Amino acid sequence: MSRANLDKDPRAVASMFDGVARRYDLTNTVLSLGRDRSWRRATRKALGLQPGEKVLDLAAGTAVSTVELAKSGAWCVAADFSVGMLAAGAGRDVPKVAGDATKLPFDDGVFDAVTISFGLRNVVDHAAGLREMARVTRPGGRLVVCEFSTPTVPVFATAYKEYLMRALPAVARAVSSNPEAYVYLAESIRAWPDQAALAEQIAASGWSDVGWRNLTGGIVALHSGRKPV
Ligand SMILES: C[S@@+](CC[C@H](N)C(=O)[O-])C[C@H]1O[C@@H](n2cnc3c(N)ncnc32)[C@H](O)[C@@H]1O
Repeated sequence: MSRANLDKDPRAVASMFDGVARRYDLTNTVLSLGRDRSWRRATRKALGLQPGEKVLDLAAGTAVSTVELAKSGAWCVAADFSVGMLAAGAGRDVPKVAGDATKLPFDDGVFDAVTISFGLRNVVDHAAGLREMARVTRPGGRLVVCEFSTPTVPVFATAYKEYLMRALPAVARAVSSNPEAYVYLAESIRAWPDQAALAEQIAASGWSDVGWRNLTGGIVALHSGRKPV
């Protein structure tokens, strides 16, 4: 089975996710000790969606994040470049589009809101992904990025680092259809910018009013922004 490296070569990333697709949802829930559901709910609430709005869920994978958003009554489309992940979510009743985050197959300004959960970290040029998300959002439209981040309490941060490097790969070996991918997961989380640094990158990529909120002590952060009018 394949895994990507921190150069995040798009072919290697897509093929790695094709390999984890079959047991992706289950592995997520086990590794996050069930927290994934509350992170998805918090993402939906942070977007403040209204019925009938058009929403892009980018890097949606199996569309597990998209169905949570669709509970709002908004029209939510799942986009991802791993056809294996989209296929694993075939039973989820939301529109699905194969597409690359750095070259989205949508016109300018067509979405009221865009969001990406646990996806931005995997995009080879995440600033380009943020600019593409801004391009397809209408002026005044919203962004929420849900991503692993940096725990805020030092003692908790140390325990979490141990979990990432030791326990997580071991648990993945028991549960995942591609355990090697979870070594990449741990490495990519450790190399990812912290809350303030990511906020700066979002603000430099076409978004205004950028802020964030920590979930589960900063294991995850929700960054939000608005497309300037
Ligand atoms: C960890 S999964 C997240 C899936 C889902 N959003 C969730 O919350 O569980 C990351 C997804 O990002 C997708 N991805 C990574 N880089 C991408 C890119 N450049 N364009 C589109 N999708 C990408 C992968 O194929 C994978 O399905």
